[in-house]
Amino acid sequence: MKFFADTAEISEIRELAATGLLDGVTTNPSLIHKSGRNFLDVVKEIASVVSGPVSAEVVALDYDGMMREAAVLRKIADHIAIKVPLTPAGLKACKALSGDGTMVNVTLCFSSAQALLAAKAGATFISPFIGRLDDISSDGMQLIADIRLIYDNYDYGTQILAASIRHPMHIVDSAKLGADVVTAPPKIIWQLFKHPLTDLGIASFLKDWEATGQKIV
Ligand code: E4P
Repeated sequence: MKFFADTAEISEIRELAATGLLDGVTTNPSLIHKSGRNFLDVVKEIASVVSGPVSAEVVALDYDGMMREAAVLRKIADHIAIKVPLTPAGLKACKALSGDGTMVNVTLCFSSAQALLAAKAGATFISPFIGRLDDISSDGMQLIADIRLIYDNYDYGTQILAASIRHPMHIVDSAKLGADVVTAPPKIIWQLFKHPLTDLGIASFLKDWEATGQKIV
């Protein structure tokens, strides 16, 4: 499973990239707003730190506008994935951009019907928003399972990018269901490392090691 960081905070991205476990980054207009920085500057900086896909979202709602914005964003680097909303105009832009060899992340997916359309439009990534579905008492994880089944039935190459992650079990459950990628706030990715028995084990091994009086180097 590939891990993307869902953030526009460059320090968080650098910290995660240093683990060697980070495969890409996703941003959205809200994350850019939160960063307080210029959109194009942030995306350029992220793309210089991470060599995997960096999603940058268009804000135009019409096809021509999306294509104009995509032209600016794709110039930043070859590994920019253009993020388009799951609308008729968004999927039209997806088809044109992916036909041109540009990576496209179709965002704001809330149903398997929408995911089917995105695959037909040649999306590189489909982003089902698990947390936002759970928030309205729907079953985000069932959506991942349904999309996996549909994509496997037809051998669609579109990668399932589990998004809107709220806690570590969303990542584990997405992995069990065969999501190709997960994008999560860095804080949640760090939580995956944690287990109290790991900390206790290290403490007791260190105590016993000190008692031996030995050194490795
Ligand atoms: C994905 O690409 C989105 O940026 C993100 O996962 C949305 O998450 P949220 O529902 O926490 O805003």
